[in-house]
Amino acid sequence: MTDKYLVFGNPVEHSLSPQLHTFFATCTHQDLEYTKCKVEEGKFKQQADEFFRLGGLGCNITVPCKIDAYNYADELTDYAKAAGAVNTLKKLSDGRILGDNTDGRGLVYDLKRLNFPLQGAKILIIGAGGAAKGILKPIVDCAPLSVTIANRTYEKAVELARDYKEVSASTFDNLTPDFNIIINATSSSLKDELPKVADEVLKNASFVYDLMYKKTGQTVFTQHAKELLVPHAYDGFGMLIGQALLSFELWRGVKPDFEKTLANFR
Ligand code: ATR
Repeated sequence: MTDKYLVFGNPVEHSLSPQLHTFFATCTHQDLEYTKCKVEEGKFKQQADEFFRLGGLGCNITVPCKIDAYNYADELTDYAKAAGAVNTLKKLSDGRILGDNTDGRGLVYDLKRLNFPLQGAKILIIGAGGAAKGILKPIVDCAPLSVTIANRTYEKAVELARDYKEVSASTFDNLTPDFNIIINATSSSLKDELPKVADEVLKNASFVYDLMYKKTGQTVFTQHAKELLVPHAYDGFGMLIGQALLSFELWRGVKPDFEKTLANFR
């Protein structure tokens, strides 16, 4: 019988995960089927129970169900615990469900591929929502020189920074132009808005990364960074592939080829 996987979310129509995982399966000669499932409000547990009861082996979870998935798992990886959210569930051989979060490691994977070393770097993360929380541990694990979280709502940055001794919080106004890499972890690009961080701060970075991506073209943030002549500006498409690749590896024990995937989808 073909092994079954899917992505849960709402909305989920736009998700590229089925195409990505189907491509991975073809490339690594794995017999599996990957579909998508819209989660009705308050129904995550019921729908996940049904999926696993009918033989499902694993799933991805996207907005707005990542915290439901965190609560659903019987066991959590350290990454899931640190993120407070789960984007990957796996049925273990004893029937229990493992929850992992591959988002942050997907980002680190992409940054390594782009030859940007985090070790010793001064890092600015803009935003203090779920996306920022999800990337913090994998970033801190890379031994950067410093990590600063700046958020429009300062108190949220303070709260997030509290869990890590290496991380400090800032308002947008108090930032000095002293970062090697700036990561936009806000959802502002989804609305075609820019976080109000001074151009002076952005200009001084050698590398800018937006966790968001657009199917075609630049995000407003990467576009703006390019206009300011920041040498390297990337969107989060590579992170999307990275997180998917790591989920696939957790489920199947093989890692598909990143570059081949990127070339196929972009
Ligand atoms: P989630 O936790 O689901 O990722 P969220 O809590 O709404 O979503 O967080 C989104 C992040 O994007 C927050 O850091 C938010 O800033 P606030 O905490 O001040 O709301 C940030 N954000 C969204 N739009 C923004 C904008 N136009 N400028 C600056 N920050 C923005």
